[in-house]
Amino acid sequence: MGDEAEETAMSSPKSGPTVLVTGANSAIGSASVDALLDRGAVVVATVRGDDAAAVVAAERESAVAAGRLTIERLEVTDADDCERVMARCRPTVVVNNAGAALLGAVCDVDDDAARAQLEVMVLGPVRLARSLIDVARHERSDGTELADRRVVNISSSLASTPMPFTGWYAASKSALDTVSERLRVEAAPLGVAVVTVECGAVSTEAWDDAADIVRRPSVDDGTEAGRRQWGRITSWLEPRFADPEEVGRRVASVALDPSPPPVTRVGFGSRLGLASRLVPAPVRDLLGRTVFRLGRAR
Ligand SMILES: NC(=O)c1ccc[n+]([C@@H]2O[C@H](COP(=O)([O-])OP(=O)(O)OC[C@H]3O[C@@H](n4cnc5c(N)ncnc54)[C@H](OP(=O)(O)O)[C@@H]3O)[C@@H](O)[C@H]2O)c1
Repeated sequence: MGDEAEETAMSSPKSGPTVLVTGANSAIGSASVDALLDRGAVVVATVRGDDAAAVVAAERESAVAAGRLTIERLEVTDADDCERVMARCRPTVVVNNAGAALLGAVCDVDDDAARAQLEVMVLGPVRLARSLIDVARHERSDGTELADRRVVNISSSLASTPMPFTGWYAASKSALDTVSERLRVEAAPLGVAVVTVECGAVSTEAWDDAADIVRRPSVDDGTEAGRRQWGRITSWLEPRFADPEEVGRRVASVALDPSPPPVTRVGFGSRLGLASRLVPAPVRDLLGRTVFRLGRAR
């Protein structure tokens, strides 16, 4: 980011909520930035690269010029980056959107890749939440009136209804949901609300090469028919996926409305999790094996 942009970052108006959105250059993050700006929020859009920063700024020149949008570089797995951006921008709301789905059969994923998935999807979001909560803790110990603060975690309906070949991604979102639920209780006395937006399938570029990735097994484990079926089912369903704009509007509501619900569901299939909890595990397993042609259990 250049000096001019840095100056703009420092001179943002501070009257309304300042909302930091991670992964702001793409799909749901980008739509959330637009919806938040439409609702009058001051937004800090975080991205990983200079090209992405330039695109985000160019698409919203008037908001940047008005000091309502600043762009920061942030790799959410980098603790120093997180500390620097949080200290500099002092957001009142953090939208943990950044993420990338690690697909494939559970045993095809090596330890490093699994660890990286948990870093991006769980540790990064918690680190940013902790930073927001620390400010509230300091305010309380200084006797300052506590501000309203909020953490919005973008999760997935796969957390409660994992499809075949999404095991590690679903595990990471499930872990995020669990820590969100605990944090919600722990942070409430500090005036920090922790809410989850549980997305069903959303039509984004993240789906473009998903079928190819799933189709690529590392060993012949007998799941080839299932992998092909995964691709067929997801491309058949894709026209029904939600628009990122619809999700962005819900994210803005959850970030800005008074008293948002703890969990908001949006997007294709986002309510499946509620129903699947009522189905006994052996029946869920049978359904999964049948629909995805994974063969009979031995
Ligand atoms: N699409 C869906 O169907 C769906 C469904 C449920 C939940 N979600 C969740 O919604 C969120 C956004 O998804 P999307 O579909 O909009 O994905 P996307 O288009 O792939 O965008 C992901 C964004 O996250 C950023 N990102 C990835 N790893 C990062 C890291 N380590 N540090 C900082 N930024 C990072 C990417 O930056 P780069 O451009 O630099 O890579 C990009 O800006 C994710 O958390 C995803 O799991 C999506």
